[in-house]
Amino acid sequence: MSLHAAPIKTPDAENIQQAADSLKAGQLVAFATETVYGLGADACNEKAVRKIYAAKGRPSNNPLICHIADMDMADRLVEISETAEEIAQAFWPGPMTMVLPLKKDTGIAPSVTAGLDTLAIRIPAHGMARDLLSAFGGPVAAPSANPSGRISPTEAWHVSGLHGDHLAMTLDGGACSVGLESTIIGFDDESLPVILRPGFITADAVSELLALPVRDTAIVQGDGDVLSAPGQMVSHYAPDKPVALNITEPAPTDIHIGFGGDSDLDLSPDQDLEEAARTLFALLRDADSLDGARITVAPVPATGLGIAINDRLRRAAAPR
Ligand code: TXA
Ligand code: MG
Repeated sequence: MSLHAAPIKTPDAENIQQAADSLKAGQLVAFATETVYGLGADACNEKAVRKIYAAKGRPSNNPLICHIADMDMADRLVEISETAEEIAQAFWPGPMTMVLPLKKDTGIAPSVTAGLDTLAIRIPAHGMARDLLSAFGGPVAAPSANPSGRISPTEAWHVSGLHGDHLAMTLDGGACSVGLESTIIGFDDESLPVILRPGFITADAVSELLALPVRDTAIVQGDGDVLSAPGQMVSHYAPDKPVALNITEPAPTDIHIGFGGDSDLDLSPDQDLEEAARTLFALLRDADSLDGARITVAPVPATGLGIAINDRLRRAAAPR
């Protein structure tokens, strides 16, 4: 594996422009969003998009999310139903992705959708991501900037371990404020919204907005053995050390991640789920770098944002 030494740059106007130029030239740029750092490429350049799959070692059946600057761009790319419009109005810009029917002749490279007739799109809220999208002026395909199956980056220096030499730079937008990947909302055969990946925007929040029941596949799948979005693997976010969940009495040789209470590392001393979401991936990295046989994690309540946290924890602990 070639470890990456691409420069980390502050997102001033000059570097944003340079990043946009690199995207135009078919190179990859890692950048901050409010959820996690993304590994971006020009979504209309098939060769560039393939570099993402190669850099991550990502299975080719796992489609990418298109990041866009505004609703005009969304309109050009996908069919937006009334329900989708309502969801967009409420949660964009923000940590929410919608899977919608792809329009014809959009120029989106086939590898972005992995051959599906739908496209996942998101308008991020992070100022730097928005500056980059505006400077670039087109859709940017971007998965999380980690090798496939490993822990997602929530700080610029976490972006590493990628293959190849196509990464032009990482734009440093600070620590991600949400810390977990966006909620992915799809639509079922009856056009009802379904949560394909839980995140900061909860099924309850969408349900309340629409006054409709919203299925949450993260709950339906229980122990995590149902694939909710194509390519989503049961094992994901994996540290090097084995992970055990819902541990209240860790062994002395364990690195224990707590949720308020006695621990080596604490997701949130005040048992605040937003803080726990923000710190989860960084703490998994920290725990991995400490001396110990395995990582144990205290129970985290599976309500509200805790649903997404438990989803990521289950995948971090899943057999590899
Ligand atoms: O917060 C996020 O969403 C981050 C930042 C960078 O925006 N991105 C991210 O991308 O998490 P990634 O590639 O790690 O996850 C994309 C997920 C995959 O699970 C994929 O299966 C799903 O989106 N997806 C993409 N296109 C889809 C489609 N057309 N239908 C269903 N699921 C799709
Ligand atoms: Mg990812």
